[in-house]
Amino acid sequence: MSAELIEGKPVAKAIRKELKPRITALKERGITPGLAAVLVGDDPASTTYVGSKERACERLKLYSEIITKPASTTEEELLEIVRSLNKNDKIHGILVQSPLPDHINELSVTLAIDPAKDVDGFHPHNVGLMLIGEQSLLPCTPHGILKLLEFYNVETSGREVVVVGRSNIVGKPIAALLVQKSSPGNATVTIAHSRSNNLESICRRADILIAAVGRPLMITAEMVKPGAVVIDVGINRIDDPRVEKGYRIVGDVDFDNVSKVSSKITPVPGGVGVMTIAMLMQNTVLAAEQVCSDKRPE
Ligand code: GUN
Repeated sequence: MSAELIEGKPVAKAIRKELKPRITALKERGITPGLAAVLVGDDPASTTYVGSKERACERLKLYSEIITKPASTTEEELLEIVRSLNKNDKIHGILVQSPLPDHINELSVTLAIDPAKDVDGFHPHNVGLMLIGEQSLLPCTPHGILKLLEFYNVETSGREVVVVGRSNIVGKPIAALLVQKSSPGNATVTIAHSRSNNLESICRRADILIAAVGRPLMITAEMVKPGAVVIDVGINRIDDPRVEKGYRIVGDVDFDNVSKVSSKITPVPGGVGVMTIAMLMQNTVLAAEQVCSDKRPE
């Protein structure tokens, strides 16, 4: 079997198309959705991600600000930046790129972000709303996965989903979303992780296998049920002296072999990563619309 590719590009394009009239409507009311990204330190991957987010804003003609601070920035300084962005009317979405330096407590920073501007969907207020199935700013990568499944007609209702990885950014929220009484949703979800016994047999139960561990090529063909749908969330740099950059990007899935047994699979790059940015744009527009509707006269 050779798997069909689940590519992010056409889905992201459809999302941008849907956002354009919403952005125009906001601009007619004098509001340009604005995103602020705060980058602390000079982690190369984070710098690349923040650059992609800025380009995505430019493409949709959203306002964007990148605030770059040295790794020596204190927690209090970062909290002060967040507080001032909370008050800034030009900014509807705030994103503090992780990982942060060790001396800064990520939770304190997340808690300081106004939940209405939390376009990452990481604030416990939004996490709670998501868990009980109420409208909230959803975390971008899990939301992007739902959009991919929908676009490529992957049925989730009644099916077995195995999520490998229990991070707060991807593993836990995608499990929470796929178990909701909604579409996509209604799945039977298992979260497996580094302490799970018999990982291979758990993975082989999956009709839909979602790999979000951050370990290059750890999902092998033996771990995949023939015909399963495989979603690879991993973005890992591995050294490769044969290429000019000295590294290449691979997912958590051994794509070359798993694509021979699965029915559909996301490539890396070009799959989930593209969606994360598209959903961030959607959240920024949604956050701006909510400000706008709050201001509407009774
Ligand atoms: N680091 C890796 N992924 C993300 C993300 O989605 N948001 C933020 N803020 N930092 C990240």
